[in-house]
Amino acid sequence: MIYSSQPFGYDVSLLSGILLDARKHNIRDGITGALICRHDIYLQMLEGPADKVNDAIARIGRDDRHVDMKILLSEQSDSRLFGDWAMLHDPAKTVIWSDTEIADGILDTTSPKEIKAVFAALSEKVKDGELPA
Ligand SMILES: Cc1cc2nc3c(=O)[nH]c(=O)nc-3n(C[C@H](O)[C@H](O)[C@H](O)COP(=O)(O)O)c2cc1C
Repeated sequence: MIYSSQPFGYDVSLLSGILLDARKHNIRDGITGALICRHDIYLQMLEGPADKVNDAIARIGRDDRHVDMKILLSEQSDSRLFGDWAMLHDPAKTVIWSDTEIADGILDTTSPKEIKAVFAALSEKVKDGELPA
């Protein structure tokens, strides 16, 4: 599952709190994934058992630390891109879109395939050791 949303009150301590919550619950639930984020966007991939991912998405949807959550991709897969990560944090180095493009709603016109490719590229970088563990 991949969704996008808009941070509400984005800062370092808020983000640390989110990642702490995410990792604690994801370890319990067998969920892995990545959270690409910066001041104007969260783009998150969650992978794991469908029921657990659906439960997490429902909880995340009720969270007031972000708004305007949109599911961009939901599909079954036999493999994981972020199998070693309870929730990898990428400070949006991977996102190729500018602030203006995001503000203008580029995600509304980007295909699920392209969105997935962003995470595939991130996963490759991580495997190549380009991001800190
Ligand atoms: C951007 C963002 C990403 C989050 N990612 C996850 C996640 O991957 N897994 C998760 O369980 N909770 C995640 N959370 C936290 C949930 O919204 C929620 O606080 C947490 O699951 C605890 O839910 P509960 O208080 O209803 O038990 C995220 C929240 C935000 C704002």
